[in-house]
Amino acid sequence: MFSRYKKSDAKPAAAVAQKVAKTDPQKAAPAPKAAAPVVTPDAVAAEKKVMRRPIVEKAAGAVAPGDKERRRKERLGEIKLELHRELLDNLNLAALDKASERELRAEITAIATEVLQEKAIVLNREERTTVFQELYDEVTGLGPLETLLQDETVNDILVNGPKQIFVERAGKLELTDIVFKDERHLLRIIDKIVSAVGRRVDESNPYVDARLADGSRFNAMVSPIAVDGSLVSIRKFKKDKLGIDDLVKFGAFSEEMAAYLQAAVSTRLNVIVSGGTGSGKTTTLNALSSFIDNAERILTIEDTAELQLQQTHVGRMESRPPNVEGKGEVSPRDCLKNALRMRPDRIIVGETRGEEVIDMLQAMNTGHDGSMTTIHANNARDGISRLENMIAMAGIEMPLKAVRSQISSAVNLIVQASRLQDGSRRMTSITEITGMEGDVISMQEIFRFQRTGLTPENKIIGHFTATGVRSHYSERFRLWGYDLPPEIYEPSAG
Ligand SMILES: Nc1ncnc2c1ncn2[C@@H]1O[C@H](COP(=O)(O)OP(=O)(O)OP(=O)(O)O)[C@@H](O)[C@H]1O
Ligand SMILES: [Mg+2]
Repeated sequence: MFSRYKKSDAKPAAAVAQKVAKTDPQKAAPAPKAAAPVVTPDAVAAEKKVMRRPIVEKAAGAVAPGDKERRRKERLGEIKLELHRELLDNLNLAALDKASERELRAEITAIATEVLQEKAIVLNREERTTVFQELYDEVTGLGPLETLLQDETVNDILVNGPKQIFVERAGKLELTDIVFKDERHLLRIIDKIVSAVGRRVDESNPYVDARLADGSRFNAMVSPIAVDGSLVSIRKFKKDKLGIDDLVKFGAFSEEMAAYLQAAVSTRLNVIVSGGTGSGKTTTLNALSSFIDNAERILTIEDTAELQLQQTHVGRMESRPPNVEGKGEVSPRDCLKNALRMRPDRIIVGETRGEEVIDMLQAMNTGHDGSMTTIHANNARDGISRLENMIAMAGIEMPLKAVRSQISSAVNLIVQASRLQDGSRRMTSITEITGMEGDVISMQEIFRFQRTGLTPENKIIGHFTATGVRSHYSERFRLWGYDLPPEIYEPSAG
């Protein structure tokens, strides 16, 4: 089990010294503008020149010379793509579902062999077997999506009509050269996915959420609401979710923040992870849950089950939208209400976005300390406003002050997740809610990500720092055996 500052094995100065030792590349650079006594027109022009940042060329995927294996793979990939296109043109897609495996394999082999001969492409036996198997998988599985689903580096797959498929890798969107044959082909794949989970998508019911067999989250919207062809969004399911140590290693937050979060979660503070779309909220929530004691009973409620808790005592729930006749809905709120009758120690709601907010806050206020959820917001203040709005929209008539007091006593901590402009995902702020001052909820930021600049490759430079404010919950942490050293709250120069 992860243990950082628990009890007496507090990390001494080493961690702090390491933090100070982290160099800031900005500092190392000389300050060029400081010593220019006379400003000539030339100097002004030169200054102007450097004012505009050069446009960074897109990496053209350069292949290192001699990198034979990679080039071979690329070549195979290209051949496969070509074969796949030809197959789509030649196979009768409508008859596919009825064909037996043997017939289909024979058909694919025949068409592919013919194309290879026509184009004078020579493959060895092993390559042929691999390529034909992959083609078969693509034709019988989820078509062109299959390769992307199997690609570990892809996080999101975004389809904008049959001829445009984007993927997200390392926080950045890229256009792929993979396409569907036409809109009918795309619709056929969508239909295959949604019918497997007993749903339907068509003109009268043009959008749908589903979960793929591998656990990936799937959303599709079809014509006439999707104007230029069906829109599909897939958040790939990661078998190995990023844990606290991975996130620290990737620079998503600091060792000090991890130690603080361990104390916060272990001592059962109620935590909200706030962030924009795809900013890493679910990943953070999942990582934070690793600090929960194994003896506790945890109930999770999600629209699409994404969380992978490591504890033994976990009850997972997935809410359900209404069916085609508008019946059978089990909303997140229904799940939450029922969860309260299931003797949970902690409740984790994947995302709070509607009327379930009332029950969530009540659960946090009434003996289910240590509950957690995520919300869509850009910073802690925004997060509070979101909660207020959700309460108002749920039709609860309560004076604003009462709403705020309910929020301030329910929520202890807001952790802000962000996807920055360079694609990196970071925990940009940890803010505590300390109570009410008049009509306003009072908060204090404990840690933040301090940006200091940008490299020529547009990578963000910065460091995590404490704000110098000691935690409102320090005494609680100490009483529960989490002796965080005072240095943890000291600002760092980077
Ligand atoms: N710190 C990180 N470093 C690298 N990749 C990350 C990091 N955090 C999250 N990811 C990856 O980013 C993707 C999006 O993360 P996640 O699902 O947690 O975002 P989210 O905010 O919950 O998104 P949504 O708003 O769609 O629910 C995932 O594929 C995840 O593995
Ligand atoms: Mg999420």
